[in-house]
Amino acid sequence: MSKNLIVAIDGPAGSGKSTSAKLVARHLGYLYVDSGAMYRAVTFLAIKKNVLNNNDEIIKLAEETNIELKFIDGETRVFTNGKNITDGIRSVEVNENVSIVSKIDGVRKALVKKQKAMGNLNCGIVMEGRDITTVVFPNADVKIFLTASIERRTERRVKEYNEKGIDVGVNEIQQNISLRDKLDSTREVSPLVKAEDAIEIDTSKVTIEEQVEKILAIVKETVDKKDSKRK
Ligand code: CDP
Repeated sequence: MSKNLIVAIDGPAGSGKSTSAKLVARHLGYLYVDSGAMYRAVTFLAIKKNVLNNNDEIIKLAEETNIELKFIDGETRVFTNGKNITDGIRSVEVNENVSIVSKIDGVRKALVKKQKAMGNLNCGIVMEGRDITTVVFPNADVKIFLTASIERRTERRVKEYNEKGIDVGVNEIQQNISLRDKLDSTREVSPLVKAEDAIEIDTSKVTIEEQVEKILAIVKETVDKKDSKRK
């Protein structure tokens, strides 16, 4: 299969983006990028520095912090200026504030710039988030939009926390997901929307394997089309 495609995947929390994107990237030997981890990193730093109420300071953090994503043993490890903050970015406090930080235009500009640069690395890439198919890579070779019912998405997120030994309430998680859905889809700057040319996959009733196979089949179709055009 030809290399160096850009595969862009968007969707709301718990729609299966991370799990599918990781497996698709592994199968294709592509770079995997969890763009949400970058918004979470900035939010984590803003909380630590106590500047959540100061947009200019938050923008400065997004612009000036060296954010590195390293994919090790199936997990994205996040480093800001060399410091490992992986555990901190999935906290309840970050969950509660990340969609507010992500609404800030200057934050988005700074992070989108870093994400676009990853697309120029001249390797295949699978990037997932909320605006990857619309803003970061509007010309991506493959565009996928994942959805699932709120109940199914909540169930998955609760399971993820439980597997890490963290006890969370179903209602608390469902409320956080609903609130983030609302903030992410109604914000002025690059809201979460399905790109016109993205292929929508409802993951409510399919297994992870089926979901991954569907995406890989779409990638293969794209490659075949490109190859036949070349001939
Ligand atoms: O993993 P989960 O789906 O819960 O969320 P995430 O991908 O870690 O993203 C966390 C938050 O970052 C989202 O709720 C959005 O507010 C924001 N985000 C964004 O605005 N744009 C992106 N490309 C990725 C995430």
